[in-house]
Amino acid sequence: MLRIRSTMIIVTTLSALSATVFAVDIFSADQALIHSGQTQFEKNCTSCHNAEATGKMDKKNGVTIAPDLTQIAKKNDGIFPMWQIYDVIYGKKAGAAHQARKMPIWGDELVKSRSVNKESREAIVRGRILAIIAYLSTIQAK
Ligand code: HEC
Repeated sequence: MLRIRSTMIIVTTLSALSATVFAVDIFSADQALIHSGQTQFEKNCTSCHNAEATGKMDKKNGVTIAPDLTQIAKKNDGIFPMWQIYDVIYGKKAGAAHQARKMPIWGDELVKSRSVNKESREAIVRGRILAIIAYLSTIQAK
C-alpha cells in the first residue's frame, strides 16, 4: 500500500514537472518571440505591474495596484496556465465587462494601426498577446 502511494506521488510530481518544463519549452526555442513580448510588456504593462513584473502596492493604504505576474505558475501548482492568462490579457471574454475590472482590455488596446482590415487587426492583437505570454512564461518564479 505504502509502495503504491509513493509511486503515485512520484508519478504526480513527475507529470507536474514535465508540464512546467513543457509550458516553458514551447516558447524557449523562439527568442525573437520572447524578446518581442518583453518589448510589448515594457511599453504597455510596467506602469501598473512594475518593470520586473512583480506588481505594485499602494504603500499608503496597503492596497495592491496590480498583481505580481512572476507568481502565476507558482500559484497554479507550478503550471503556467497559458490560455487562462491569454483570456485575462485579451479581456473580451463574456463576463469580463461586468466585473469591476481595472486591467485594460488589451484585445482593443494593442492595435493602434487602423490601416489594416478587422481580420488582420485581430491576428496582430493575438500575436502580440502570445508574445507577451511567451515572455511572462520565462520570468515565472520557481
Ligand atoms: C492600469 C493598470 C494596468 C495595466 C496598464 C496593466 N494591468 Fe494587468 N492587471 C491590473 C490589475 C488591477 C489586475 C488585477 C485584476 C483586475 O483588477 O482587473 C491585473 C491583472 C493582470 C493579470 C492576471 C494576474 C493573475 O494573477 O491572474 C495578468 C496576466 C495581467 N494583468 C497582465 C498584464 C499585461 C500583459 C499588461 C500589458 C499588456 C497589463 N497587465 C497591463 C492592472 C493593469
